[in-house]
Amino acid sequence: MKSRPASRRHFLATILAASAAPAVVRAGAGKKLDVVIIGCGGRGAGNMGEIAGAGENIVALCDVNQQNLAAAARQFPGAKTFTDFRKLYDEFKSFDAVAVSTAEHTHAFATLPALQRKKHVYCEKPLTHNIWECRKIREAAKQAGVATQMGTQIHATSNYRRVVELIQGGAIGPVTACHVWVGRAWGLQSQEAAKRNGDIVYVTGRPTEAQTPPPFLDWDLFLGPAPERPFHEVYFPGPKWYRWWDFGSGTMSDLGSHWNDLPFWALKLDAPLTIEASGGPAHAELAPATMSATYAYGPRGDMPACQLTWYQGEMRPAAWTDKKIPQWDSGALFIGEKGMLLADYDRYLLLPEEQFKDYQHAGPRIPESPGHHKEWLEACRSGGPTTCNFEYSGALTEANHLGNVAFRTGKKLVWDAAKMECPGTPEAARFIKREYRKGWALV
Ligand SMILES: NC(=O)c1ccc[n+]([C@@H]2O[C@H](COP(=O)([O-])OP(=O)(O)OC[C@H]3O[C@@H](n4cnc5c(N)ncnc54)[C@H](O)[C@@H]3O)[C@@H](O)[C@H]2O)c1
Repeated sequence: MKSRPASRRHFLATILAASAAPAVVRAGAGKKLDVVIIGCGGRGAGNMGEIAGAGENIVALCDVNQQNLAAAARQFPGAKTFTDFRKLYDEFKSFDAVAVSTAEHTHAFATLPALQRKKHVYCEKPLTHNIWECRKIREAAKQAGVATQMGTQIHATSNYRRVVELIQGGAIGPVTACHVWVGRAWGLQSQEAAKRNGDIVYVTGRPTEAQTPPPFLDWDLFLGPAPERPFHEVYFPGPKWYRWWDFGSGTMSDLGSHWNDLPFWALKLDAPLTIEASGGPAHAELAPATMSATYAYGPRGDMPACQLTWYQGEMRPAAWTDKKIPQWDSGALFIGEKGMLLADYDRYLLLPEEQFKDYQHAGPRIPESPGHHKEWLEACRSGGPTTCNFEYSGALTEANHLGNVAFRTGKKLVWDAAKMECPGTPEAARFIKREYRKGWALV
């Protein structure tokens, strides 16, 4: 499965692929889209606001938390309400598109039925909870031929566009390494470190005591396909669940979705050849606050082989700790033969500054986005492309998950992308695909 960044050629390929797919019902220019919201609190409220703000109809709402469902229903009193998305898909037929913002372990379960019904889907990052699910969703999206977008809204910024243009235009020459770091330190760490890093909860293992779930929460539906476990406040509310492997994938796959998106796009990355992680040993249940993962990529077109290294929590690239670059809290540092480029969400810097003081950006080449949600909504109508469609964002999600697989196995992995296997490391298999709770299947 090949993915490419949002080049013109990619847009054309996407359009051709879409036109070969079975017919998709499109709202047509001028007609409002009827949109279903699955997961109405947290990020879901933001997505719902963007979609309604663009003038679309919110026709159904689904949430396992009655408080969040009621708050959304007050905003959209005409919308049908559901607690279980399986029931929603069984009973509610008249809609064009779905926005999924549930906890990560249910993303694929809430997304797949929509694709199978040829409905357009916006799904929050990371696209799925593991690599096998990601492949399934990529395949279903391809077959459906609908408009898809993962919720990596930073992709729509002008800054990311300018960085991609500079890197692909050769401003710093061929790039052989990229370092990406994020300051967030949530997850397993010492109590001292949790305090120092302002973590939102301190927990080092599964609680032995059970608590009664709040009356407004359907805990069984929140668990969904995840193994049974009693409710406890260390999981709920979000974003506490992000650190539990059964529900989330820690910061690597969470913020990796936004930050690794930039090198993925600029350096035309896809499936890595090898992946190695440090910062372990891994905990069976909890994702780490601090870790690092190094990905090796082969040559791509006219781009040389390169390494991408991810650092989270208290790890940073050597250039940062040695104070050779500005001390940005999070950033991406591209290292080329002729210089370096440091970027974050909103700014970039060519380094050494003295060398680039007269450097002029050649001017925008990549079209500006109308906005991440609008791009998707327009594509739902027109059949046009989206920049973070499930093919591109699926490959990005798989790569981020691979960092966690390397961390959890504690081994350097060789990646056979076609077979979804790590030759020589059979123990990786259980982190690539998971067992579902009885009654749940992704078919
Ligand atoms: N794009 C971004 O910048 C961004 C920012 C924050 C979160 N996120 C992503 O959004 C998703 C949600 O994160 P959050 O922090 O809002 O979590 P959250 O737990 O605060 O909110 C999730 C919402 O979905 C509901 N929900 C959970 N399981 C459900 C189910 N099975 N069916 C229906 N509703 C369900 C919850 O009750 C809640 O209302 C995650 O994938 C997260 O990574 C993205």
